[in-house]
Order: sequence, then C-alpha cells, then structure tokens
Amino acid sequence: MKNTFFGGYNMPNNDYKFAKNSVFLITGGAGFIGSHICEELVNMGYKVRCLDNFSTGKKENIEHLLNKKNFELIVGDICDLNTCINACLNVDYVSHQAAWGSVPKSIKLPLDYEKINIMGSLNMLQAAALNKVKRFVYASSSSVYGDDKNLLKIENKVGSVLSPYALTKKTVEEYGRLYNNLYDLETIGLRYFNVFGPRQDCNSKYSAVIPVFIKNLLENKKIIINGDGTQSRDFTYVKNVVQANLKAMLAPSSATGEVFNIACGDSIAINSLFSKIALILKSQVKPSYGPIRKGDIKDSKACITKAKKLLGYNPNYNLDDGLEFTIKWYQKKI
Ligand SMILES: NC(=O)c1ccc[n+]([C@@H]2O[C@H](COP(=O)([O-])OP(=O)(O)OC[C@H]3O[C@@H](n4cnc5c(N)ncnc54)[C@H](O)[C@@H]3O)[C@@H](O)[C@H]2O)c1
Repeated sequence: MKNTFFGGYNMPNNDYKFAKNSVFLITGGAGFIGSHICEELVNMGYKVRCLDNFSTGKKENIEHLLNKKNFELIVGDICDLNTCINACLNVDYVSHQAAWGSVPKSIKLPLDYEKINIMGSLNMLQAAALNKVKRFVYASSSSVYGDDKNLLKIENKVGSVLSPYALTKKTVEEYGRLYNNLYDLETIGLRYFNVFGPRQDCNSKYSAVIPVFIKNLLENKKIIINGDGTQSRDFTYVKNVVQANLKAMLAPSSATGEVFNIACGDSIAINSLFSKIALILKSQVKPSYGPIRKGDIKDSKACITKAKKLLGYNPNYNLDDGLEFTIKWYQKKI
C-alpha cells in the first residue's frame, strides 16, 4: 500500500464510533452515491480508498478529495478478482456501491449486467472475506420488489423481478446472505429507493427522473413523462443513504445477513413531483406523456421500520429539503 495513504492528516472527530485508525473501501466511489460516502468519511478524518473504473462515474465527483492525504484512488475494475483483493488489503469496512444502474439499460445489455453487477459483487465479497474485513455493506435496490402488489414495501415480501437489473440485485442479496452465514464475513444489504441529490448524472439517456426534470426545466426544454404520471416513488435524498451506510457498518452483529429498505417512508406521484419542481423553478413548461417504460414498478413506498429499529437509521432530509439542496446545486452547475 502507498505510504502517502497513511501520511499525516487530522484525526477523526465525529459522532460515528469507528476506531480512529479505521480504513474504508468505497467501490464505485467516483459515482453519484459513492462520492458522497467518500466525502463524508474523508471529512471526518478517516482513511478512505475509492475503487472505480469510471465507466459511469466521473473524476469531477471526487476532484475535491484527490489532494487529501486520507484519500486514495484506485482506478480498477471489480470484474478482476486480484484488483478486488488488493483493494481490500488492510481495510476494515467496505461500502460496495460499484454497479451499473438503470432498468432500461439492463434490458438492452443483460450479459454486461450479469458480469458487472453479479460477478463483480461476488469478487468483492470474496476479496473482503479473504482480507477479513469487519463489515461489508452493499447497495441493493427497491427494484427487487418487482411485481409485489403491496403498496408498502416490506423487506420479507418481494415479488418476481421485472428486469435484469433487479435480478442482479436480488442475486447479490442472496450471495450477501451466504457470505454472512458461510464465510465469516458480516454483510448488510441496503435497498435504496430512488436516490437523488447533487452530482447525479443529468446528461445520460438513462438519467433518473429528478435530474432530468431539473435540467430540462432550467433549460426550458420539453419533458416527457413515461405513462400517465400517476406512478409513485419514495424519493430519498443522498445524505440519508450516506447515513444508512455508516450506521450499517456500526450496527450490532444481529443486523448482519439482513437487507433493509433505505428511503424516506413516503411516496409522491411523478405528476406531483413535476409540479413541485416546476413551482420551485417558477417554470411554465408543461409535460407531455409517453409510453410506460418496460420493467418499471408501478408504485413504490418503503416501510423503514426495520432499518430504524436495527440500524438506528433515521432520514434527516425529506423530499422538500433534498430538492432545495439539489436544485441549488444544478442551478450553479448548469
Ligand atoms: N441512484 C439510485 O437511485 C439507486 C437506487 C437503488 C440502488 N442504487 C445502487 O447504488 C449504487 C450506486 O449507484 P449510483 O446511483 O451512485 O450510480 P453511479 O453510476 O453514479 O455509480 C456507480 C459507480 O460504480 C462504478 N463502476 C461501475 N462498474 C464498475 C466496475 N466494473 N468496476 C469498478 N467500478 C465500477 C462507476 O464508474 C460509478 O462510479 C449502485 O449499486 C446502484 O445500483 C442506486
């Protein structure tokens, strides 16, 4: 390991009770969510290593961390087991975010999703177990609920998956449980529900709805809503997801081998979300409507009782707070 990584830096000072010399590996750390996790831990003074191949992540997301003594970047691919093993050397906690997102992209490229999301995650689990990592927290997704008919999503009631992306996340949850039970690696899976916030990509054809709405309204461009806009989602500000990752690393061992919904526990229809953002931006643009997207869930609202009880998770930011910070960020950027 590079000496610079262990060079002088301010010692950790924060509310999370990690040992002061703890070392963290964040895979996908140059992505939207991963960069926020890196940032929080670096600011708290911990040693943070980021493993990313920049396939969807960006250097600009971590530019402000690159000159910090307690931050190390490894450019590498989780599809390579040796890269994963080296990245896990001397690491105490792993937050595994690296994956390809997007339901429609996975319908186009199922083989890539199998390789990156499933095989890549298996490599990371194996590497973490070999290196005796203390806790392995990984990103799962609300997409695993598939065609479950209940509006309120509860961890132990999932339906059949509707896309290759969802299948990859469901499979990784099973591997996560197995590594916890068979390989002496404590794992916790976090099912994120529609995360949003600064740095989320707004320029890809696979971009999520909030960045697309904000960008198009700021640029006075037309907006097409898939379906009739009555479909609903539990939007989660990215800082809540950061909190969930850190709390999952510190949760009692009784919480390991489990998966948890990470959301606000509230949902909003896409039409109402659009009106909210248009109102904040004082935009007169009216949306038009297109076909329903294949593979999408109709409604999604999370029960977050389990995460509150076992992880001590408590979302500090609601949709309105999150939108305020996010819109301000895009206003500066665009
Ligand atoms: N954004 C959401 O709403 C949401 C919802 C549910 C789950 N998730 C999950 O959260 C995680 C992070 O998502 P995000 O929104 O930050 O996406 P993102 O695309 O911004 O971040 C993913 C990061 O992983 C990296 N990566 C991808 N393949 C890699 C590989 N083979 N090797 C190394 N690095 C690789 C990318 O370069 C990128 O930096 C993903 O696992 C995603 O499936 C996200």
